[in-house]
Amino acid sequence: MSGVNEIRSTFLDYFRKNGHEIVSSSPLVPRNDPTLMFTNAGMVQFKNVFTGLESRPYTTASTSQKVVRAGGKHNDLDNVGYTARHLTFFEMLGNFSFGDYFKERAIELAWNLVTKGFDLPKERLLVTVYAEDEEAASLWKKIAGFSDDKIIRIPTSDNFWQMGDTGPCGPCSEIFIDQGEHVWGGPPGSPEEDGDRFLEFWNLVFMQFEQTAPGERTPLPRPSIDTGMGLERMACILQGVSSVFDTDLFKTLISATEDVVGARAEGDQAASFRVIADHLRSSAFLIADGVLPSNEGRGYVLRRIMRRAMRHMQLLGAREPLMYRLLPALVGEMGRAYPELGRAEALISETLKLEEGKFRTTLARGLSLLSDATETLGKGDSLDGETAFKLYDTYGFPLDLTQDALRARGIGVDLTGFNDAMQRQKAEARASWAGSGEKATEGVWFELKEKFGATEFLGYDTESAEGVVQAIVREGTVVGEAKAGETVQIVVNQTPFYGESGGQMGDSGVISTDGAKLSVTDTQKKGEGLFVHAAVVAEGVLKTGDAVVLTVDHARRSRLRANHSATHLLHEALREVLGTHVAQKGSLVSPERLRFDVSHPKPMSAEELARVEDMANAIILQNAPVTTRLMSVDDAIAEGAMALFGEKYGEEVRVVSMGTGIEGAKAGKPYSIELCGGTHVASTGEIGLVRVLGESAVGSGVRRIEAVTGEGARAYLAEQDERVKALASVLKVQPSELLPRVEALMDERKKLEKELADARRKLAMGGAQGGAASEVRDLAGIKYLGKAVSGVDAKDLKSLVDEAKTGLTSGVVLLIAVSDDGKASAVVGVTADLTERFSAVDLVRVASVALGGKGGGGRADMAQAGGPDGAKTDEAIEAVAAAIAG
Ligand code: SER
Repeated sequence: MSGVNEIRSTFLDYFRKNGHEIVSSSPLVPRNDPTLMFTNAGMVQFKNVFTGLESRPYTTASTSQKVVRAGGKHNDLDNVGYTARHLTFFEMLGNFSFGDYFKERAIELAWNLVTKGFDLPKERLLVTVYAEDEEAASLWKKIAGFSDDKIIRIPTSDNFWQMGDTGPCGPCSEIFIDQGEHVWGGPPGSPEEDGDRFLEFWNLVFMQFEQTAPGERTPLPRPSIDTGMGLERMACILQGVSSVFDTDLFKTLISATEDVVGARAEGDQAASFRVIADHLRSSAFLIADGVLPSNEGRGYVLRRIMRRAMRHMQLLGAREPLMYRLLPALVGEMGRAYPELGRAEALISETLKLEEGKFRTTLARGLSLLSDATETLGKGDSLDGETAFKLYDTYGFPLDLTQDALRARGIGVDLTGFNDAMQRQKAEARASWAGSGEKATEGVWFELKEKFGATEFLGYDTESAEGVVQAIVREGTVVGEAKAGETVQIVVNQTPFYGESGGQMGDSGVISTDGAKLSVTDTQKKGEGLFVHAAVVAEGVLKTGDAVVLTVDHARRSRLRANHSATHLLHEALREVLGTHVAQKGSLVSPERLRFDVSHPKPMSAEELARVEDMANAIILQNAPVTTRLMSVDDAIAEGAMALFGEKYGEEVRVVSMGTGIEGAKAGKPYSIELCGGTHVASTGEIGLVRVLGESAVGSGVRRIEAVTGEGARAYLAEQDERVKALASVLKVQPSELLPRVEALMDERKKLEKELADARRKLAMGGAQGGAASEVRDLAGIKYLGKAVSGVDAKDLKSLVDEAKTGLTSGVVLLIAVSDDGKASAVVGVTADLTERFSAVDLVRVASVALGGKGGGGRADMAQAGGPDGAKTDEAIEAVAAAIAG
């Protein structure tokens, strides 16, 4: 029963049987508390249930909660590896009552589990209570039958539990076990309490207050219970070992490390094995919960943990990245209880490998600098701050890594000197952006960035989170508050709102507090790392320092996601259909539609567009999961990820993959792989459908494709469908008969047009041939027909002249047509027998001059000209007559 996995299930089964709801562990990055670095206790996910802000369908619960205590109020990082029990990551078993049972039942439940479920001998147990909590003391007496000497009253904050500077809190009572005389130490409250003999393993907190600000407490709506038992400690007790590192789970991890590094966990080296085992757990679980190593905030704590472990790997002789090879052992031990670990295994493995590879290149040089700089130092001395800063800045040694490296020799670090060096560097950075020509209005963002650091983006995992307002900016100036009606820009410490980048538009949504509500219209990235929310205060007053709830407009974000993922699919499909010369030249992902510009020298045919659309839709129908990994740019490109030429990428990039290729070179391989910081659907099916609207030119060699997805595509197709139906109803056919019907109509129209032209011609020439004949003049033996025709197109004049020439047998014809805008076209025809005497070209020029034009052209038997004066047709006819008559 005493294995870690069995202890966990015994605990949860016990509380299930006692009517508690078993709730999954919440993520290590708290969704509901911006003031906490990491989830540091089981009660964090229930914080708002205790205070009455949130209600759940149950009033009692039990969990096995992932906890990280590194950075923030509860920070154990520095001690790990050097004590028997400190861990940065551990599992906290807990039972909770939200206004249901209180002290008596809590003590009773704990006592029964400890003495009956876990079979701990009553005589080895003792408890502490908060000095003022008489009630708890008498309940212990009643339930456990303890004598007064087994109930130790502690007057200090040790027995008053607080989650952080704010949040639910209350007096607590801790249960201890006496490990026996052979272990040094005294009971709690005694001068020897720091020894290991009396081991605390369960903390029962009687939640009664909410701390709203330092020193300010209000009572909770209903007294509640929060208990926390360190699983690893209980494992120590039940397995009869004094160090958590000797429990079954850690022994497995340590022996896996021994295999990988080829060294034994003995003597001076033992601490390194312990550090590695603990840090492997915290790193893996943090990465699985969405934290990635970075130089700020949570990501930096993770980086510190990882690098500390990596240095110890190096101390053990590792000459290549090895941490990731320990992962299977961890997943084997903990993957069943925490399935997220297995799901993220590839991501964790790659992240570990990448970080270790990167750090390794500077680690050896940094360590040699450190050893040179400390050569002459001894116990009690300090390393100068300048060198510590250089290690930090140039070699990527977090301060605590340097401290850890010097610890064994009793050497400290000059922290004042370190901070001075850090400040100096910041001042230099400020001077450089101030001189970089950024507009004064933009300067405010750099200042805020420097003051608060980058905004932490939570929006890959959640659309709603809490944050603390760091700054309110109105018209380029930082202000303390914003009132209803004002338009402002808000900076918070963390946000689920996506800031516009990579073509994807920024999120909109709502920021609210108890008393204020702001409508966020857009989110932009500024000052190299700040997410700036453009917002209008709809009601109330927002102040700097307020805790706010940030909620992204879900429907809009869903459409943005679908359109962004569809852009990736279209990109790959375009490369398949058109060729790999196709490169992205720009894109716009809006909620309504997507626009994608690619390099391609000529218009795309309808058939090509249809194939692109078919391919993208085939991947959508796979409903394939969309995976995101963090990799180095080089590795990503080696894997075939598409990167944008000229785009500035960090050392590490997010790589988004989706779908499986169906044919050609990609068959069976990942379909689309792109470097991308945007937000995407979880699986391709969420895109629903992609419909290409068309393509057009945008500058030389660049084509633009526009498309709609999901609901947008459905609405577009519904509209098209309506059009077809309306058309069919006008034409009185079924939609399927539209095409032949329209073709028949077009043929009919052509025929009618021809008939109409013939009829017009006949009419123009006077109805029958005879009509024209009566107008023929005889000019000194030359037959001449000169006539203005109406209702005839200029293009039909020549054929009319030909017909008239045939009618005359020998003679000259001049026909003039006047268009609606009053311009004249004239054609002169001369029968072949007369071309020696008259040139149609000369004669038409005569007509043209009369019509106000210049010249004309053609052959001797047929020539054409024009002129602007359509009113002068009579003059032209007479001028040609005069020319013939000579
Ligand atoms: N919140 C308390 C602790 O963390 C009990 O769960 O110790």
